[in-house]
Amino acid sequence: MSSLPHYAKGEVIKGFGRGSKELGIPTANYPEDVVNNLPENFAKGIYCGFASVDNGAVHKMVISIGWNPTYGNTTKSMETHIMNMNEGDFYGKELKIVILNYIRDEVKFTTIEALIETIHSDIKYADEELNKPEYEKYRSDNFFKA
Ligand SMILES: Cc1cc2nc3c(=O)[nH]c(=O)nc-3n(C[C@H](O)[C@H](O)[C@H](O)COP(=O)(O)O)c2cc1C
Repeated sequence: MSSLPHYAKGEVIKGFGRGSKELGIPTANYPEDVVNNLPENFAKGIYCGFASVDNGAVHKMVISIGWNPTYGNTTKSMETHIMNMNEGDFYGKELKIVILNYIRDEVKFTTIEALIETIHSDIKYADEELNKPEYEKYRSDNFFKA
């Protein structure tokens, strides 16, 4: 099992742009060097935790780590959806995350609707899970302070 918590920070780069357009769920993508910093034994899949942009407010987040089998990507990616954050353009900004909890493995969906529905249930799960007192200390972690 993966070593959690895992902390990551880096600049937001352009993904394939499907997140907000096709799915209505914007995601912030990390460059290759941040992805390559994951421990070798870190399991691909969907996780939740906390995130901030340019040292702003700390939000709950869900993140997909892997190859997006629905789309058959050839490079591994880390795509973060920041919850309760009105859509903004994060390109070039610094995204900090702490990954706290494994939700599930990546699935190859046959319809986009099924992918969207499942991401919404991940978000619902994360919203409840991250309210647990054991995670409170990460929300106020020094890592998120400027
Ligand atoms: C919480 C979450 C769960 C996801 N789960 C899956 C999955 O099970 N299978 C999959 O192929 N892609 C999954 N994705 C990735 C989406 O396919 C991806 O974010 C979308 O293609 C947008 O990619 P882009 O930003 O590179 O355009 C997930 C994304 C998020 C944020």
